[in-house]
Amino acid sequence: MVATGTTTRARIYAILRHNSFLPGGRRWRSFHLLALGAGLLAVALSTVDKLPTRLDAVLTATVVIVAGIFFAEYVARLWSAPEAVRYSGLSDGAARLRWACSISGLVGLLAIVPAFVITTGSIKANSEASAVFCILWILKLGMYAPAMSTLGRVISNERATLSSVLVIFIIILVAASTATHLLERGAQPEPFGSIPAALWWGVVTLTTTGYGDVVPHTVGGRMVGSVVMVCGILVLALMTGILATGFSEEERRREYLRVWDQVTKVPMFTELGTVTLSEIVSKLRVRHYPPRIVVVRRDEPGDAMFFISEGEVEVRLPRHAPVRLGQGGFFGEMALLDRLPRNATVVTTQPTTLLVLYASDFYAIAAHIPSLVAAVEKEARRRRLANEDAAKVIPK
Ligand code: CMP
Repeated sequence: MVATGTTTRARIYAILRHNSFLPGGRRWRSFHLLALGAGLLAVALSTVDKLPTRLDAVLTATVVIVAGIFFAEYVARLWSAPEAVRYSGLSDGAARLRWACSISGLVGLLAIVPAFVITTGSIKANSEASAVFCILWILKLGMYAPAMSTLGRVISNERATLSSVLVIFIIILVAASTATHLLERGAQPEPFGSIPAALWWGVVTLTTTGYGDVVPHTVGGRMVGSVVMVCGILVLALMTGILATGFSEEERRREYLRVWDQVTKVPMFTELGTVTLSEIVSKLRVRHYPPRIVVVRRDEPGDAMFFISEGEVEVRLPRHAPVRLGQGGFFGEMALLDRLPRNATVVTTQPTTLLVLYASDFYAIAAHIPSLVAAVEKEARRRRLANEDAAKVIPK
């Protein structure tokens, strides 16, 4: 009984984790996002004047339902908190208390407040409170959105480079604001009368925002302004480049972990040495398929082969009984080896996770990891013979 309870709790915890790879986790994230979107839309619409009474009731109901979903989520997160590795060693009660006091716990609790506020009237009657829900729910979105944790890691990884660009930004800002203060203070004492006052113009110009509320009037001030605008573009381009590279690096690392997680379920790969394995992991891509999806269609050109890390597929051959391939199996290799169109249609029979190896990587690997390709070739030979035998028994 205890074991079942613990297993259910661990499963719920795994599903609710913001970076869960489980199909249930992905489904929960989509549902959560949908509920959040519906809730935010309802709250935003409720601030519009002169809404029909019927729509007001619909919006109120939507907010109550969404807050109810968040309440259930809060309870589930609180209950499963002892499963978190960071709380290992703590009693269940202590782990739950620690989670409840964490930022994630507090934001989760604040997100259910709307339900209680609404009990005092309709959403329209509480339109000021509605604006607060909007912020709370956006905060919740930020809490669990994978993009936010990725952004946090990218900023942390690139902090040295970002700081150098920030220093350049500050140097240009202070130098330009000081120069414009000296040049413009006579013509415009209010916006340029002091360096701190001139900094506003500096920030607006350097970030290329350009509100146009403060503009230099003297020739010197305009020349400084032109230089600052060009510098602003350069500094922003640098920042963008650093963050974009950081994001793509982070995504590559996450994909590597995702693939590594799946590769361990395919015996063909686990037999390889660690160095070879890490080489192949960088070339594989994880793809999740629902049941009854055609992965490979007969007579189409082949651009990849597939390894099954979870689930099952059915190979539909023209003159052969359907063949089922399960976890650890592979398909799509014959088109790559023979450089011919696909000889069968392959369809998923259940939710299936595949590791995709594109043709160019397959040929590159053939040179580096001959043992893997030899095993693939051996199985392809066996399949070819089986198909030829079947063709003899069941002629066209
Ligand atoms: P390909 O021809 O690229 O695409 C269809 C795939 O079905 C084929 O590669 C093989 O991987 C797979 N296939 C073909 N014949 C058989 C068989 N007899 N048994 C299992 N799989 C097969």
